Amino acid sequence: MTAAGQVESKRNAGYRAAAMVEDGMAVGLGTGSTVFFAMERLGERIAREGLRITGVPTSYQAAIRARRYGIPLSSLDEHPELDIAIDGADQVDPGLNLIKGRGAALLREKCVCDAAREVLIVVDPTKMVDTLNAPVPVEVLPFGVAGVSRRLSLLGAAPVLREGVKKDGPVVTDNGNFILDCGFGAIGEPRDLEAAIAAIPGALECGLFTAYKEKITVIVGEETGCRVVSLH
Ligand code: A5P
Repeated sequence: MTAAGQVESKRNAGYRAAAMVEDGMAVGLGTGSTVFFAMERLGERIAREGLRITGVPTSYQAAIRARRYGIPLSSLDEHPELDIAIDGADQVDPGLNLIKGRGAALLREKCVCDAAREVLIVVDPTKMVDTLNAPVPVEVLPFGVAGVSRRLSLLGAAPVLREGVKKDGPVVTDNGNFILDCGFGAIGEPRDLEAAIAAIPGALECGLFTAYKEKITVIVGEETGCRVVSLH
């Protein structure tokens, strides 16, 4: 797939998701380049159709973009239940297990995913894999990073502290924490691995999303059109 084709695929996925949003909805807004296309189209619908929605952003980046597109924003405090959430992913397997967190927004993304009645995952075809095998990002309390890293190694990972770009030292998340990128190779049992990581004190959340497949719809953008995948 060419770079231009990938952008078109992302645009098609994002626009399809935006078309599924209805008047009056509270909408979780994910982080990343694909969901930005959904936000762009939501902004257009607000301006042209008078669509009334409230967005709950998953990151500073999402909030900044949403404001640029004229999407009114609120918080999970105001909307602990969301009608729908739109988010991207880094890998998706046939059972609709996900790896997320390339953008270090996974903790808030999982909170928003959990709060949403319906979740639209927008991806280009390069994200669809038979078996999850990308490094799993883990958001870690800085106080516990050495201990968490040791425990993740015992689970079979090779944890790498994520370094900033145009910033010396570690990436600091929107929540003030660090990210350990953990290569496990092919992940045979993602649900078990997610549970094992969640049991480590100081590992605040990981990028495996295995508990939401019943409410997830994956919209795979193609260069022309979309493919929609769900288990319901
Ligand atoms: C953010 O932390 C991730 O979970 C993103 O949702 C993911 O990286 C998708 O980004 P793109 O749409 O840019 O690939």
